[in-house]
Amino acid sequence: MTGSASGASAGLTRVPGLLYGGDYNAEQWGEHVWDEDARLMRQAGVTMATVGVFAWARLQPASDSWDFGWLDRLLDLLHGHGVAVDLATATASPPAWLVRAHPEMLPVTADGVRLEFGSRQHYCPSSAVYRAAAVRLTRALAERYRDHPALALWHIHNEYGDHVTECFCADSAADFRRWLSERYHDVETLNHAWGTAFWSQRYAGFEEVEPPRAAPGPGNPTQLLDWRRFCSDALLACHRAEKAVLDEICPQVPATTNFMSMFKALDYWEWARHEDFVSDDAYPDPADPRAHVTAAMNYDLMRSLKDGRPWLLMEQAPSAVSWRTVNLPKRPGLQRLWSLQALARGADGIMYFQWRASAAGAEKFHSAMLPHRGTASRGWQETVRFGAELRRLAEVAGSRLRGQVAVVLDWDSWWALELDEHPSARMRWLDLLRPWYAALFERGVTIDFVRPGASLDGYRAVLAPNLYLLTEEGAHWLARYVHGGGTLVCGPFSGISDRDDHVHAGGPPGPLRPLLGVVVDEPWPIADGAWTTVRSPSGELRATLWSEWLETEGAETLARYVCGDLAGRPAVTRNVHGAGAAWYVGCHLGTDIAALLDLALGPTVTALPLPPGVEATRRRAGDGTDYLFLLNHGPDSVQLTLDAAGTDLLTGAAVAGRLTLGALDAAVVRTHPTEVLP
Ligand code: GAL
Repeated sequence: MTGSASGASAGLTRVPGLLYGGDYNAEQWGEHVWDEDARLMRQAGVTMATVGVFAWARLQPASDSWDFGWLDRLLDLLHGHGVAVDLATATASPPAWLVRAHPEMLPVTADGVRLEFGSRQHYCPSSAVYRAAAVRLTRALAERYRDHPALALWHIHNEYGDHVTECFCADSAADFRRWLSERYHDVETLNHAWGTAFWSQRYAGFEEVEPPRAAPGPGNPTQLLDWRRFCSDALLACHRAEKAVLDEICPQVPATTNFMSMFKALDYWEWARHEDFVSDDAYPDPADPRAHVTAAMNYDLMRSLKDGRPWLLMEQAPSAVSWRTVNLPKRPGLQRLWSLQALARGADGIMYFQWRASAAGAEKFHSAMLPHRGTASRGWQETVRFGAELRRLAEVAGSRLRGQVAVVLDWDSWWALELDEHPSARMRWLDLLRPWYAALFERGVTIDFVRPGASLDGYRAVLAPNLYLLTEEGAHWLARYVHGGGTLVCGPFSGISDRDDHVHAGGPPGPLRPLLGVVVDEPWPIADGAWTTVRSPSGELRATLWSEWLETEGAETLARYVCGDLAGRPAVTRNVHGAGAAWYVGCHLGTDIAALLDLALGPTVTALPLPPGVEATRRRAGDGTDYLFLLNHGPDSVQLTLDAAGTDLLTGAAVAGRLTLGALDAAVVRTHPTEVLP
């Protein structure tokens, strides 16, 4: 296995080693329970507890009344037991008194329904009342706890965009108009960008523009695309307002907000710029035998968002969640394996929702580190055992991994791809991405995600499973990479539209035509349930969802359709530029993309040969020490042959050449450069 890595970084927080703990919603319990909690946290090796996430009503029972006494006592108690605190700004669930005084701050859906109090996340992101109240609470907390010795991290809000990603009220409309006037300056520029000459949609002034509320038919695509951009920015403005207060009052303590993996509504590239480090909430479904592949993909994104810096798994379920239709528990060993997987992909801490299982409220059937049954439970035994294992892995903190291959992810393109009235509604970003990612995962190749314009230095290949929206600059960026000797593989329905979602002149792939050496005459979507066959140097491959009437303009045809309307026409092409090559895959090959990517990446992208179901990554510390993570997701034990010798940090055993891993078992082998076998 290969894979380069950059140097180690300082820890995420001042707490040494890998962070371990969870959400501690202590306000649910009488203080007599806290003593037991603190003692048990210590027993489990918990190093950090996230406190106060939904405690707004308790902290501020009325507009001018504050109650910090309980939080003072809680922080003192945790500190006394050696547990650091990730203190939440508590702004994700506004209290009833605030909502009743200002019902206009409740969010409104596209068809005009105002969502009621009684759950959480009930606020309009553009509400000045909400933002001011959130900032006031954040300031009060920051001023009170800035010097508390327990404080190690600020937890801003909670999962921005969870439940409510957009609001269509009058305040949002005004904020949208302000955002549009900053973007376009004058309404004629907006009219041009939105193509309002069509369907008589012309605006005479910004005051005539509204959010894309429920309407008789399809909405204006650029209006919808701008709405997606605006909604991400509106929530980001809430976050930035809180972050600014923390930076002003408490700059010595890092701050983060918990992301929700690959989440469509928020452009996490933009968001990550405002985080001191990235943290993520991940809830892979134990009922899904491929859940670990999607999880790996999400963790690669989290690592990539801040250029490879370690990140924090802020929340996961110790066993079952409570919000799916059927909530399967994690069978013994799965919680440990999936936690180690996050570490394998760059996390420097493992946290859970939540510490103690609730007796009441919406999440009382959600698993917890300390289940209802208490310390006799299987869950508790696993909590304690894993805490001890994390201590043995402490030295991994700060080490990094870097992918050999870059995968392009652009939220603008994702949003635009999934707008209505396209040749096929089946072209969904995650459905297009997943098989490409899975192919690399099965091959043992670590990838980084990149956004258009990012540095591509050192990547052996760049993959773009879909780039529906692509600017001229984006195309030049890819062309520079290929002309410099790189391999690009570009998926179908790419290079279609520009920043305003106007179709590029001359036909797809628009600005990529010279680079790819092809032009698309017409998209040829494939009906639901149907497929077509493509003959390639890797054998016959099956295409579903999408094909294209493709013509070459200098590219070599590598694969052709065998049957149907497109029989004999090119399906996959390669255009050579010096030492570089630009491949185009004009159809959706599903899992069959693996054979083609093998061909495109060839021997330049190498990986340790692994039995099916085994995942391997390598993290490297600044001093050159490697940590080889080996994870067996399969149901049987496997034999591995390694190119290195070292010590398995989980067991303390020496490892040389061969290693046996039981079902759902893992090893973290520390190797020093001198210990690499010939
Ligand atoms: C998260 C949320 C937590 C809890 C958890 C349950 O989305 O941040 O507060 O609800 O889900 O799985």
